Amino acid sequence: MSHGYSDGKTINPSSNPSFNEMIDARLSRRTLLKGVASWAFAGSLPLALAGCATGGLKRAGTLGFKSVSLSKADTVRVPDGYTATVLLSWGDPIGHPGHASGSPAFKQDASNTADEQALQTGMHHDGIHYFSLPYGSENSTSALLALNNEYTDDGLLHPGGFADWSTEKVRKSQHAHGVTVVEVRAQSAQGTQGGRWEVVRPSRYARRITARTPMTIAGPAAGAAQMKTSADANGTECLGTLNNCAHGYTPWGTYLTCEENWDAYFANSGTLTADHRRNGITPKGRGYRWHEFDERFDAGKHPNEPNRFGWVVEIDPYDPQSKPVKRTALGRFSHEGAWPSVGRDGRVTIYMGDDRQFEYIYKFVSRDAWNPNDRNADRTNGSLLDHGTLYAAKFNEDGSGAWIDLTFGKNGLNAAAGFADQADVLIRTRVAADTAGATRMDRPEWIAVHPGTKEVYCTLTNNVRRGAEKVPATNASNPRANNTFGHIIRWREEGSDPAALSFKWDIFVLAGDPNNANPAKRGNIKGDAFGSPDGLWFDDGGILWIQTDVSTSAMHKGDYENMGNNQMLAADIQTGEIRRFLTGPSGSEVTGVVTSPDGRTMFVNIQHPGETSSERSDPNNPKAVSSWPDGASGGRPRSSTIVIRKNDGGVIGT
Ligand code: FEO
Ligand code: CA
Ligand code: CA
Ligand code: CA
Repeated sequence: MSHGYSDGKTINPSSNPSFNEMIDARLSRRTLLKGVASWAFAGSLPLALAGCATGGLKRAGTLGFKSVSLSKADTVRVPDGYTATVLLSWGDPIGHPGHASGSPAFKQDASNTADEQALQTGMHHDGIHYFSLPYGSENSTSALLALNNEYTDDGLLHPGGFADWSTEKVRKSQHAHGVTVVEVRAQSAQGTQGGRWEVVRPSRYARRITARTPMTIAGPAAGAAQMKTSADANGTECLGTLNNCAHGYTPWGTYLTCEENWDAYFANSGTLTADHRRNGITPKGRGYRWHEFDERFDAGKHPNEPNRFGWVVEIDPYDPQSKPVKRTALGRFSHEGAWPSVGRDGRVTIYMGDDRQFEYIYKFVSRDAWNPNDRNADRTNGSLLDHGTLYAAKFNEDGSGAWIDLTFGKNGLNAAAGFADQADVLIRTRVAADTAGATRMDRPEWIAVHPGTKEVYCTLTNNVRRGAEKVPATNASNPRANNTFGHIIRWREEGSDPAALSFKWDIFVLAGDPNNANPAKRGNIKGDAFGSPDGLWFDDGGILWIQTDVSTSAMHKGDYENMGNNQMLAADIQTGEIRRFLTGPSGSEVTGVVTSPDGRTMFVNIQHPGETSSERSDPNNPKAVSSWPDGASGGRPRSSTIVIRKNDGGVIGT
């Protein structure tokens, strides 16, 4: 599969959790399967559950909308009293300042050139963040939106799809990847009915970052021998970012974009190295066909080029001239996202998941404290994300957990184990976590930090290989074999300190279909059914928003026969109730959510409406699955950012 992670192959050869199974798992599993109610076993109640009204939050977030039913309709459905409108679709001009009349308009027959695509919104929207204008304000009517454009459906991207494949088509695909930054503003005063939003065109901030944008390599792996290529003898500058899935942000107002299934873009006409194999690179690649006209994506000819992908990239949206920076201290794997939590001592923790079957959850803790009064000390080319410690998570069977230090010289990461230095540990982060004994998880996706208690929630989207022959059996933190529906795990750091080395954990919810014939697949949801949780985000009122990514190859079949299209739900973590808020159009994933600071405007990304089970559309029938959002007048479905408002101007979800 082009997207890379649903190919059913396990690429982690280690056997880490097996010794955990020596411990009696029955007691903890029984406790954990009780879900929310079990949290008390781990100690005192978290603040959010202890009954205080807002738990240190900006406002109280109590669910106040009527649930939306499951849907297979080719439209976005939101609760009564809400309105969803389309703001920014693939191909829409970003309003680049070089084009006063508005940058190139989208052509519904997909005949825009590669150069035009570089001035238009990218494809397959994913993570998104809201940056108030000006910097430092909490403006709810004027902002920059930074959003990821994860991958391309080349059947939709070009007339004729892959026919007459060429340098021009490869360039257009590369330009449709990366990050889009646009300026947006509310057309009418906040709180009024309708409150329509628009993209400001032109804007000096409007910017595309693509798979060809020059970026700096920083941190411990910069300049390492493994990072050097024929095009970059110093190993300090590379071209582009790709498969930008989820995202993150920093307290100093920069955007973090995360390189997920980067391995899928490489082919190898020569010999696969151990590192190529550990990361899933295959001889023929997985369908993007960039290597046919851009030789750096042939890892046989350029074996170090893959080492320059799989990182977290920091972008300053407030400075359109700034050069993006790959922060190697945060490790190299299939990065889903990178979410911050600031400790009382000012050090910054970044939580991260590696979205592959049986891969790991990580966190980075900065060496130095963040200084809120000196933005320039911290932003791109600063050092907070270049100096610190990377850890991998170990979830013990008894509900305790530990962060394992992935520093060269510790936890078996030494010459005897084949590691040369810290750069080597970071470039081969997965092998380091294998060696150090972290817990292999059911595909870690998004991570959300509660804004009051700092408790951490993480979606484990699914793992159909869990418990299969010759792959690891279940354990307390991944308790279901053939886990088609996924679950959400949560943990509380010791002393509520994001930098702590130990934590207590439990399972917030096991997703499922209560009508499934197999009792193990019914889950324990208190509320509306869902499966394959992926996007996860806490708003400032403490409502936990959950978005699903049932792959198009699984949708509406088998376990998902009666589960409808992908959806977004809202959870009240105090009661455990989960209520469906939105259903997406046909063939889409719902991914990426953020609100304005006042909570009255929500931005949600609808990714790949119309996707077929092969993830590549028939260019001769682009509307076979969906014609959203343009309908009869459009030529093809388009990923889009939508705006959701409550018709009375109220806080979304309440
Ligand atoms: Fe791109 Fe893990 O979802
Ligand atoms: Ca995702
Ligand atoms: Ca996913
Ligand atoms: Ca998707």
